[in-house]
Amino acid sequence: MEWLLAIVITVLLATVASLWLFLDKRRSYWRDRNFPCTGRSAMIYGDYKNWSRTEHLQEINFRLYQEFKARKLPVGGTMLYIIPTVLVLDPELIKAIMVKDFANFHDRGIYNNPEVDPLSGHLFALEGAAWRLLRTKLSPTFTSGKMKMMFETILGVSDELRKYLHEEMVQGAAELHMKDVLAGYTTDVIGTCAFGIECNSLRDPECDFRRIPKKLFEQSVGQMMWMIFLMMFKGVATKLKLKAMPDDLEGFFVRLVRGTIDHREKNNVQRNDFMNLLIQMKNSNNPEEKITIDEITAQALIFFIAGFETSSTVMVNCLYELAQNQTIQDKLRKEIRQVCGEGKLTYDNVCGIEYLNMVVDETLRKYPPVDSLIRTSIKSYQIEDSDLKLPERTVIFIPIHAIHNDPQYYPDPERFDPERFTAENRAKRHPFVYLPFGEGPRNCIGMRFGLMQTRVGLISILREFRVKFGPNTPVPLKIDIKSGIVSPLGGVPLLLEKL
Ligand code: HEM
Ligand SMILES: *[C@@H]1O[C@H](CO)[C@@H](O)[C@H](O)[C@H]1NC(C)=O
Ligand SMILES: *[C@@H]1O[C@H](CO)[C@@H](O)[C@H](O)[C@H]1NC(C)=O
Repeated sequence: MEWLLAIVITVLLATVASLWLFLDKRRSYWRDRNFPCTGRSAMIYGDYKNWSRTEHLQEINFRLYQEFKARKLPVGGTMLYIIPTVLVLDPELIKAIMVKDFANFHDRGIYNNPEVDPLSGHLFALEGAAWRLLRTKLSPTFTSGKMKMMFETILGVSDELRKYLHEEMVQGAAELHMKDVLAGYTTDVIGTCAFGIECNSLRDPECDFRRIPKKLFEQSVGQMMWMIFLMMFKGVATKLKLKAMPDDLEGFFVRLVRGTIDHREKNNVQRNDFMNLLIQMKNSNNPEEKITIDEITAQALIFFIAGFETSSTVMVNCLYELAQNQTIQDKLRKEIRQVCGEGKLTYDNVCGIEYLNMVVDETLRKYPPVDSLIRTSIKSYQIEDSDLKLPERTVIFIPIHAIHNDPQYYPDPERFDPERFTAENRAKRHPFVYLPFGEGPRNCIGMRFGLMQTRVGLISILREFRVKFGPNTPVPLKIDIKSGIVSPLGGVPLLLEKL
């Protein structure tokens, strides 16, 4: 028996030793390739040690950006745990990656395995030809014509928001947790538009549609870590058929989507929303259009995840800034009243308020809800005008928050100043230093929709209420380290007064 024990121990020791050697070698991955790097990657954690524990990804990438910027580098190598990653600083290189040489950078490198995990087959994660096919099929769903069609549905929800705020304001003013209120609003918007359900989560925060996904977001860091893990061991994970989405969430969305489709097909319900368009595609005879019920479910899920918290965060950050500067708030309200009057909003009015667009743009500049874009190189890539070469399958971070807060492009970046976004000032900047929705063929497909619901929400509030700091408003705003996107911590109480 002793020899067996000896073998077991030897094998064990050899495994541990080679694992140790592998991890140790990873730390010098960039140095070995003569690529500029931090030179202090830790074992296992690489350069992202504090992620989700004491720092948000945004803060880590901001620090790395400043470090590389001080060294005047166009790009710097880091280790995202054990994944070799580069941070891109140079706007021209960003443009090359996102547009010019897109053919080499069309993937994000996120794990997906639709055969065994149908919900992982969503637009954000899919790669290569599968992504392109789906993107082409879905694009017609997001045209401005389709947005106009959904506009009435959004107005209906914004009316509920108005009524709700009036009810809360018995004394003429009230301090409300605006992050929660606005998350209720966007959940209802995406709930009616993507799933066709009237959930009214504004009044009933415990309804399933608000509660179950909320649970997911509360664990979103755990979920992020799981995604990173799957990214690192993509090959093995695919073989082992690991799932990207938790089972309870999958069950919830599968039931929801099947239920909606059944109900609509049985009762011949037609509505102006995403689900209607997706069902039409499901029943289409044209193979270039046709999608399956699993594909519908995965897209509905990603519309939900990508659609509700990003927009509600923009609105709450915007209101926070407006509460701090009544001059800007008054000017904005005046313009809103000039363009929209007191009556019903129209699609063209909502999109045509120039100062509102500037205010929203500046909010997205200072607080991009998605702090970093991600791409993966397919083949190795020679960086133009330099002797640097990106290895194949390298993860690329484009740190938009850091770029948006770089004084070289935006002097005094802490200051909230919508004037940065006059046509004139905009033209003075490199177009790739403003990227809240990404860029190129793989940018945010839901940009128009996100902007529309953001504008409608802000107009509905500002037309009738003044926003101020209340006794419990946090100063300054802290970010929620546990959130996957960048969102302020807590409910963000703000004082609303009836005008
Ligand atoms: C203000 C709100 C929003 C912001 C700031 C935002 C931001 C972003 C960003 C930065 C990306 C990555 C783009 C890139 O890598 O170049 C993205 C992708 C995406 N967004 Fe949005 N988004 C918003 C609203 C929405 C909405 C409302 C939807 C859907 C209804 C949506 C659906 C998606 C999808 C499906 C992708 C992946 C696209 C692809 O890979 O082809 N987003 N978004
Ligand atoms: C982690 O955060 C601490 C303080 O929050 C900081 O001192 C330290 O430098 C950070 N570590 C890394 C590796 O960035
Ligand atoms: C408010 O905004 C205006 C216009 O951008 C600016 O002139 C003023 O200094 C700002 N006030 C404060 C308190 O930040």
